[in-house]
Amino acid sequence: MSRTVTDLDAAVNEIADEMRRRPDRGEVAAYIPELARVDPGAFGLVVIAADGHVAAAGDCDTPFSIQSISKVFTLTLALGMVGDRLWRRVGREPSGSPFNSIVQLERERGVPRNPFINAGAIAVTDLILSGHQPREALGEILRFMQFLARDASITIDEAVAASEQRTGFRNIALANYMKSFGVVDNPVDYTLGVYFHHCAISMSCRQLATAGRFLAHSGRDPETGLSVVQVERARRINAVMLTCGHYDGSGEFAYRVGLPGKSGVGGGILAVAPGRGSIAVWSPGLDASGNSHLGRAALERLTKRLGWSIF
Ligand code: DON
Repeated sequence: MSRTVTDLDAAVNEIADEMRRRPDRGEVAAYIPELARVDPGAFGLVVIAADGHVAAAGDCDTPFSIQSISKVFTLTLALGMVGDRLWRRVGREPSGSPFNSIVQLERERGVPRNPFINAGAIAVTDLILSGHQPREALGEILRFMQFLARDASITIDEAVAASEQRTGFRNIALANYMKSFGVVDNPVDYTLGVYFHHCAISMSCRQLATAGRFLAHSGRDPETGLSVVQVERARRINAVMLTCGHYDGSGEFAYRVGLPGKSGVGGGILAVAPGRGSIAVWSPGLDASGNSHLGRAALERLTKRLGWSIF
């Protein structure tokens, strides 16, 4: 075992120990009632290094609701389906607004600022759906996740999806508003049905870090050698993660962590250290921007200790 690997294991274990003890855990998301039931004391951290070594600590095999982290994978899938035409529907600028904000949509004629705010992700989901049955589109997304994570056991948490379907009034408003500008093609309830369900995919830190490896290694899964996307596309997805992956907290995340990352209100964060590794962290308590409070703190410690910031 190389020295670097020893250091990596020690770093992951020590950071997880510290985070498990910290009292300041943030607030678990309550606007999706099913997410409010999650234990705020949970903490998991997995780093998969370029050589395939896995450093894992805490609740690293417990599945959690990936929520907005799914938007990285739907963006990847949609780019594969429609190519750069996607950017006519969705911008790639930071919004500086909360993830569920509607204000920019009127000024910008229904075109969402980026694919990671809710409006943008709904527009991307609509592109994946494009005329298919919701069940087929959802199957496509789920199979993509299973393929990337090399784990066919990954499923959708139907209780979480139903919970959001019952209470997702803001997303329903966003989708209808975009539909009025012609930015959503399919029936709004079809598009939202697929969106709510892909947000409700359950994965562990280990599965998520595995699924994110292609982004850390120029579009290719280093384990299988399979190319998922071209190198240029991987670079661009990472660029959008860096600038938009944490909504109005993206600047702070780049400042503190220095890596492309995508958060979800389930408390997960997927972070990408190009050429070095893929990282997934989970701590359900959120900060005021809806990003994992201790997840970011852990990543800040980790990148500082390993020297993995891209800056
Ligand atoms: O649409 C929503 O509000 C959720 N399904 C996803 C939001 C989310 O994860 C924001 N991330 N921090």
